[in-house]
Amino acid sequence: MKTIKIGVLVSGSGTNLQAIIDAINSGKIKNASIVIVISSRKDAYALVRAQNAGIKALFIDPNEYNYKNDIAPYSKKLLEELEKEDVDLVCLAGFLLKLSPEFVVAFKGRILNIHPALLPAFGGKGMYGRRVHEAVLAAGVRFSGATVHFVDEEYDHGPIVLQAVVPVLQDDTPEALAERVLKEEHKIYPESIRLFCEGKLEIRGNKVYIKE
Ligand code: GRF
Repeated sequence: MKTIKIGVLVSGSGTNLQAIIDAINSGKIKNASIVIVISSRKDAYALVRAQNAGIKALFIDPNEYNYKNDIAPYSKKLLEELEKEDVDLVCLAGFLLKLSPEFVVAFKGRILNIHPALLPAFGGKGMYGRRVHEAVLAAGVRFSGATVHFVDEEYDHGPIVLQAVVPVLQDDTPEALAERVLKEEHKIYPESIRLFCEGKLEIRGNKVYIKE
């Protein structure tokens, strides 16, 4: 089987990145290697995790690319760095910025994201981190979870690969719920990547078929 080169984009603590690194090291994902980790934040602990694992780690500052006025130049820079490393699959793991349509086209069907809720509910612009779990609690739903999906041009949108469900408890706090969801994220993200790397995911329209 061909070794799939993965590029991971991060902005935060990188526990999902760690779960992917661990799944590769333990042989759960057999034919993949993370060739580059890029962070949009200088102080992201994910960068330390990458360095500890001996993976090339870059901080690329969105402000240097005028990201607030135009998202395209920053995405172009990311694209250049990923293409330099011959990346086959891009994994967004707690990456907070929007990618340009050009980026999405360049890696069409080859970008995965993880979201800490059951999409299409509780996603979209501004729905990240604690805010997602606050919205879930405010809505009074009984279940939440995590979603791995292919990325298209919209926020938190695109064909769904795997989801995991967790209960919402009556006395939940956003932190407690986040922790419960995160545990599931660490299972379904590596598993989705394994399926991708083994060529078992097929996108048909807006759905993903798993060929196991
Ligand atoms: C996770 O909850 C992920 O779903 C969301 O951001 C968080 C990142 O956590 N997109 P980490 O950086 O992987 O620890």
